Amino acid sequence: MPKTAKPKKPVDVADLTKAQAKVEWKRLALELETHDRLYYQDDAPKISDADYDELRRRFNAIETRFPELVSSESPSQKVGAAPSGRFRKVRHAVPMLSLDNAFAEEDVRDFAGRIARFLKLADDERIDFSAEPKIDGLSMSLRYEGGELVTAATRGDGTEGEDVTANIRTLKDVPQKLHGRNLPDICEVRGEVYMTKQAFLALNERQKEAGDTIFANPRNSAAGSLRQKDPTITASRPLGFFAYAWGEMSGMPAETQSGMIKWFEHCGFTTNPLTRLCHSVEELIAFHRSIEEQRSELDYDIDGVVYKVDRIDWQERLGFVSRTPRWGIAHKFPAERAMTVLKDIEIQVGRTGSFTPVGKLEPVGVGGVIVQNVTLHNEDYIKGIGNKGEVLREGRDIRVGDTVVIQRAGDVIPQVVDVLIDKRPADAVEFHFPKTCPCPLHTDVVREEIATGEEGSRARCTGEFACPYQRIEHLKLFASRRAFDIDGLGEKQIQFFFDQGWVKEPADIFTLAARNRELRLEEVEGYGETSVRNLFNAIDARREIALERFIFALGMRHVGETTALALARGYGSWDAFHDACLKVAKGDEEAIAEMDALDQIGDTVIKSIAAYFGEDHNLGIVERLTKEVKIQDAEKPKRNSPIATKTVVFTGTLEKMTRDEAKATAERLGAKVSGSVSKKTDYVVAGPGAGSKLKDAQKHGVQVLTEDEWLQLIAE
Ligand code: IVH
Repeated sequence: MPKTAKPKKPVDVADLTKAQAKVEWKRLALELETHDRLYYQDDAPKISDADYDELRRRFNAIETRFPELVSSESPSQKVGAAPSGRFRKVRHAVPMLSLDNAFAEEDVRDFAGRIARFLKLADDERIDFSAEPKIDGLSMSLRYEGGELVTAATRGDGTEGEDVTANIRTLKDVPQKLHGRNLPDICEVRGEVYMTKQAFLALNERQKEAGDTIFANPRNSAAGSLRQKDPTITASRPLGFFAYAWGEMSGMPAETQSGMIKWFEHCGFTTNPLTRLCHSVEELIAFHRSIEEQRSELDYDIDGVVYKVDRIDWQERLGFVSRTPRWGIAHKFPAERAMTVLKDIEIQVGRTGSFTPVGKLEPVGVGGVIVQNVTLHNEDYIKGIGNKGEVLREGRDIRVGDTVVIQRAGDVIPQVVDVLIDKRPADAVEFHFPKTCPCPLHTDVVREEIATGEEGSRARCTGEFACPYQRIEHLKLFASRRAFDIDGLGEKQIQFFFDQGWVKEPADIFTLAARNRELRLEEVEGYGETSVRNLFNAIDARREIALERFIFALGMRHVGETTALALARGYGSWDAFHDACLKVAKGDEEAIAEMDALDQIGDTVIKSIAAYFGEDHNLGIVERLTKEVKIQDAEKPKRNSPIATKTVVFTGTLEKMTRDEAKATAERLGAKVSGSVSKKTDYVVAGPGAGSKLKDAQKHGVQVLTEDEWLQLIAE
């Protein structure tokens, strides 16, 4: 038998001489350039991803060992210049919103029912849906102008994302240039970037060997790979992209969602092969079942399926309710569960002093993720009692040593859903909830009062700003991505500055640089001249901040990002907001009523704002901070709409639109739609059959419009 020649094993990069390296570098550079062209421009790769990756890896290894070989001609430089520092922010031409969730079949039926009612469809009119797997990755918006990829942006907060164009150009599923003719001049193609499960496991192996970050799941590793400052690293991590939606389009190439998906394919994108057109709710539910059955065999993570009304003209009519469309829904899969042993219970003190008992587990894999911690919520939950006193787990309190069933659903923190009493060891230890805070002050713990005035289940430290746990948690929130977003000032750094006594309150962050003559941060281990300079630059870059971020960053209880945005939009400027808060804290009824009239603001928020601004210590914190930063005025949306800020009531039968449609349009134009007429109402739009509301309008002297008059008013 003739001997087959074994392929020659290449010399280890570590053993290459400089001359050998130079020759191989040149050869690989040419080879990579050819493959890049085949891949990006012609979309006709001639080698497998794995072979390409291998070439890239070896090429990078040579450049790492012999950096003098790197030139501007090198393929490692051509994917785009590495963005310096942080990624540039990109404002989405059309916001990137999210989907509402359905869990039960009933929710899907309700969804279809709502659509039929909204569109006033006849009973026998069929609604076609595009049914697609819900990929558990990162959504991405790709902007093409004149057919060329110009920007790739992450979702970010939906309004503004990060520019990751250089990195996205390394994905083979993303064409640099759209294929086909008669392309709309502007095309924003949206979809999901993901990493296959196999690639994720292989990457983690490599990371482990190199002592680098281990990723929790494919979604995190895809995110980590995309956020690389160096596109060659992204290029070395195999990421995929499925196109499924669009943003701004200067022309529409199709009339349906399924037509758009076909068009994406013509343009050179990959779309998910499991996507189907369904003609009834029954078909949707069968689709859900079939995808769930295939879920574990798929090489990418999915967390449900998505249904979208196929007709785009209907999608347009249906529009959005706050941040989610009426025309689409995510039908999630039930949470994944696993069994493990609870080894300990620790108490975490949050920013507002609330206690969260955290269960420490024997590590266990759930849905591809290793889980070591579970939230145990509160004292009652551990005892097996619900927040209204109802029995959650009859006779099954949670004890250290117990075998517990844990559940993980999407990004939600894992939870204990059951305790297996049969497996309880004799030495299992009952947990005694602490009566004092673990902070050095050992302040008393109280159970928080709930809306009804009764004792709630959440325990809180009464130390407020005297409790170091609360102060540090607030500082962490303050510097975090969602608030001041200070690069290089993560939780670890905040903890360090706090422990040193260098940063005790937010304003101290902004005076760090001025105090550095004495502090000498560059002499601290882990910091050098450059990183200190970068940190101070990053802090300086945040001296100007949007009002909503500033309000959120104050860390008031019950004032999350959405509430902060509502407040910012309501008051427009920091001075107006601050003024109002001081009045609210003093019990000024007019100021309270004004705040109460704002969309999404109610009693709980007002009480919390009053408590915050009623406290001298907080006023000091705010005053010192506002000296350091410039707070931008909030964008007052839809100022030029004739009905902006007006209150409208619809009554009677509307003939040209459904009630829901009328409400949605009014809200889109900045009006508030109310169900009852008062002296605060600006317009009552009355159709045939209007009754008591019409009388109320006359009583309060409110202007009454016919449907046509209304349409004329909003058309102006
Ligand atoms: S359509 C208006 N289709 O799910 C939102 N989203 O909760 C339009 N996702 O942010 C999104 N697969 O990251 C859509 N086939 C699919 C999807 C999908 C995954 C993600 C996406 C989005 C989130 C919505």
